Amino acid sequence: MKVLIATDKPFAAEAVNGIRNVIEQAGYELVLLEKYTEKKQLLDAVVDVEAAIIRSDIFDKEVLDAGKNLKIVVRAGAGFDNIDLEAATANNICVMNTPGQNANAVAELALGMAVFAVRNFYNGTSGTELFGKKLGIHAYGNVGRNVARIAKGFGMEVYAFDPFLTAEAIEKEGVKAVNSAEELYTTCQVVSLHIPATTETKNSINYALLSRMPKNALLINTARKEVINEAEMVKLMEERKDFKYVTDIMPGNHSEMNEKFAGRYFSTPKKTGAQTAEANTNAGIAAANQIVDFIKNGNERFRVNKK
Ligand code: 3PG
Repeated sequence: MKVLIATDKPFAAEAVNGIRNVIEQAGYELVLLEKYTEKKQLLDAVVDVEAAIIRSDIFDKEVLDAGKNLKIVVRAGAGFDNIDLEAATANNICVMNTPGQNANAVAELALGMAVFAVRNFYNGTSGTELFGKKLGIHAYGNVGRNVARIAKGFGMEVYAFDPFLTAEAIEKEGVKAVNSAEELYTTCQVVSLHIPATTETKNSINYALLSRMPKNALLINTARKEVINEAEMVKLMEERKDFKYVTDIMPGNHSEMNEKFAGRYFSTPKKTGAQTAEANTNAGIAAANQIVDFIKNGNERFRVNKK
């Protein structure tokens, strides 16, 4: 039984060692494909493995079809928009994620990017502070919760909107719940995005929503680029010279953004939120354990696709 780690963006070495221990102790063999440059390498690598651990690596129908022996694919991380769930179900492949395992790393980056932005990208000019500002957390999941915890340490007033949670569930953690995304954006000068990319959320962060934000607004995106309406973001930032956008997921129109909004726009060169030794180890080992538990005991607790 072979388990493939397929990571375009490799895990830290200690995470790979940890995964190897779990896989080998279970009596399986670990196969490693890192930093691949062509899809063909991925297609070849999946051919004879029963399980795969991946990150944002694209597992579309072609890849899933090529994995003739695949029984399980675990996305070591939260978002699984990179996997064709219907094709996986059709091929009788179980897909899982590892919710929460990299959440602190992403949350730390979100707040780090907030400081970077309000200090004018460390250009030496006088910036502002986060203390006392209203922070809106858009979707209060594992990352959102960690952002709230850290933001309270900065002395921010923390608000959240999550259509899948009750106000009570949010407020018991000392965070103010609002009733709509509109209310969140109207209330908060700083907004941190933590929504997944789904049919409903794609392009949903648009001009109408963002233009509600108070003066000297800052949007932080450590979620997905697809949730932003990129053309409307350009229009908004052209009109609102007080608006800053920092993102960990390079948008499709990065060159245009860079050119037009120098000093108000920043993107990391490669998504780096979950790129810490701790997050790699937590998510990678969780993925390995979930594979072993699935193969040996049929445990499907973290399954995200239909049967
Ligand atoms: C996630 O969905 O878990 C994060 O976006 C991290 O993605 P990565 O593993 O590709 O860095």
